[in-house]
Amino acid sequence: MANDNPMDNIDDWEDNLKERYPDPEATKKEKEEFRNYVDSERVDTVKEFYRVNHINQTYRFVCEKEKEFLKFDKKEMSLWDAVDFLNTLVDDSDPDIDLDQFQHLLQTSEAIRADGHPDWFVLTGFIHDLGKVLCLFGEPQWAVVGDTFPVGCKFSDTIVYPEFFENNPDTNDDRYNTKFGIYTPNCGLDKVKMSWGHDEYLYQILKNHLPEPALYMIRYHSFYAQHRENAYAHLMNEKDIEMFEWVKKFNPYDLYSKAPVEPDAKALRPYYEELVSKYLPSSLKF
Ligand SMILES: [Fe+2]
Ligand SMILES: [Fe+2]
Repeated sequence: MANDNPMDNIDDWEDNLKERYPDPEATKKEKEEFRNYVDSERVDTVKEFYRVNHINQTYRFVCEKEKEFLKFDKKEMSLWDAVDFLNTLVDDSDPDIDLDQFQHLLQTSEAIRADGHPDWFVLTGFIHDLGKVLCLFGEPQWAVVGDTFPVGCKFSDTIVYPEFFENNPDTNDDRYNTKFGIYTPNCGLDKVKMSWGHDEYLYQILKNHLPEPALYMIRYHSFYAQHRENAYAHLMNEKDIEMFEWVKKFNPYDLYSKAPVEPDAKALRPYYEELVSKYLPSSLKF
């Protein structure tokens, strides 16, 4: 039986992302240091993670997860409780290696703020990964993180480790294994089911509360096969194409934000409290 949670830390897949899409602004020395840091054991666990992800993310699986989680009957909490809750998700095998989840959120949002973007963009950086609370509801890593991709049509070869889709039942299902599958040309991504994970889940929780570009950034931030590889333009409509400019703008903040000095969470709290209360209700249903 395959291990549902092969990675020591769910953020190990993000190191794999940085290897695939290195920071164009990093110096040669930083790139070398990063490569040394990505040890071979970690590469193996990330590969195993993608193997189980690609086998199990079927059209049917996504429908089942939607039914289960879009009832939002798991937990009612404020956004701040969700941040604290998410932060209980730590890497116990190697406590000093990774930033905690809260620091990743703050680093992302503070980098966006420093560049003078609108406040809803800053807020988006601050909350974009809160859907990872799925892990704390007992979901396996492969149904929470990892690159996302459409299900219900052919899997693109540009998705990381495409060979693992060979053992996904949808690959042999004639309804789902053609270029368009169950979709029509340029039908719009809103009609396209994505593999299930933290992006779609948080989008569904927040969809009535944020401006449209923010919702796109949240919903598609792990859709590398599109925002980096442009492999699914045939399913997108004009609005999607326009909105993906925002998704692309967001991605470097997500991947490469790492301040030399950690942001001071305590000092920043009042600013974020005001920002959160400007856009979001005091309690959210997860
Ligand atoms: Fe994410
Ligand atoms: Fe992130």
